[in-house]
Amino acid sequence: MFDLTPNIRGSVKKVNPFRVMTVMHRASELEAEGRKIVHMEVGEPDFSTAAPIINAAKEALDQGLTQYTVAPGIPQLRECLVGHYREKYGVEISLDRILITPGASGGLGLLANMLVTAGDGVLLSDPAYPCVRNFMHLMAAEPQLISVGLDQNFQPTVDQLEGHYQENTSGLWLASPGNPTGTIMERGRLTDVCAWAKKKRLHLLVDEIYQGLNYVDDMPSVLELDQSAFVVNSFSKYFGMTGWRLGWIVVPDEYVETANILAQNLYISASSIAQYGALAAFSSECIEILDARREAFRERRNFLSAALRDLGFELSENIQGAFYVYAGIKNFSNDCEKFCSDLLENHGVAITPGTDFGDFKSLEHVRIAFTTNMENLTLGIARLEAALKN
Ligand SMILES: Cc1ncc(COP(=O)(O)O)c(C=O)c1O
Repeated sequence: MFDLTPNIRGSVKKVNPFRVMTVMHRASELEAEGRKIVHMEVGEPDFSTAAPIINAAKEALDQGLTQYTVAPGIPQLRECLVGHYREKYGVEISLDRILITPGASGGLGLLANMLVTAGDGVLLSDPAYPCVRNFMHLMAAEPQLISVGLDQNFQPTVDQLEGHYQENTSGLWLASPGNPTGTIMERGRLTDVCAWAKKKRLHLLVDEIYQGLNYVDDMPSVLELDQSAFVVNSFSKYFGMTGWRLGWIVVPDEYVETANILAQNLYISASSIAQYGALAAFSSECIEILDARREAFRERRNFLSAALRDLGFELSENIQGAFYVYAGIKNFSNDCEKFCSDLLENHGVAITPGTDFGDFKSLEHVRIAFTTNMENLTLGIARLEAALKN
């Protein structure tokens, strides 16, 4: 008899699936049975990509621009990003330092390969976007998790970083605004964190994928404070291009050559059509559409946070960015997975259990996304209210 046990390496077995996918799958089964489900689990804008981007991509197709591009991405798009950093953040980034990637995911994978060695420790927040922890497992590195709660705006403090630092710590990976919390690392704390990372000689990476979806005036990029930091960003969220698979990274000068070599080997280039489409994302016509969408998200955020607070959920007073509420359910349950499953099965509302994002108090939290319109959000809140009365 042959042994059919798959020969998958141990570190891969530590990579866990997304529970949100199970929620989405079950929601679609219920929809197939004719049930109306309110989707508040999905981590992507409900708007389809803005027309100027779609038109630019169609034109690129008509012109036959369908080949691989150079590995770091077409210079015109990187030039747009140089302008973006200059105008929005007042920083001068040379074109060479910007590489276009297949989504932020492609950028995170490239940077994990470039910066993290087996046995390294990397400081991460808990809760946080789960893929990052899984990338560490893939690199046979150790995610060094820092519990961050509501009382500290779900972002680590320098004292905590100091407390979690170990001899093998080689890096610190943050997200601002974060998923699932929507909170940012404010300028003062970010400045201190940059200085601390420098003192400890750690690489610092900030995932800024939700920048642009901000509901506060001051949302700094780490590049304003520290040009030696690594930045990950994407066209998925503010730019509304999730399915196009397009993102970018910014690396310090001395990493440009290696990052290019890795890009060539890992994915050759990001999608050419997506890159030509994204050129239109920086036109004033497109920015106007995207900013109006951000204002729609702001209105939803205001409605949802007030309504959830009224129902007895615990949440941040000030969700500063992204499109998520990370809500404490202590008043109703200490088992978020059962809470989410009951809500979906019995009341037709899909939300994500906190256990997708880490261990720290995760059983008493859920993530509720405002990636659906006001009508659906209103229905979702009415259903939640009915569920909590039962
Ligand atoms: C914090 C964070 N980083 C990265 C990603 C990956 O995004 P993409 O690969 O679509 O750019 C996501 C997706 O939800 C995210 O929330």
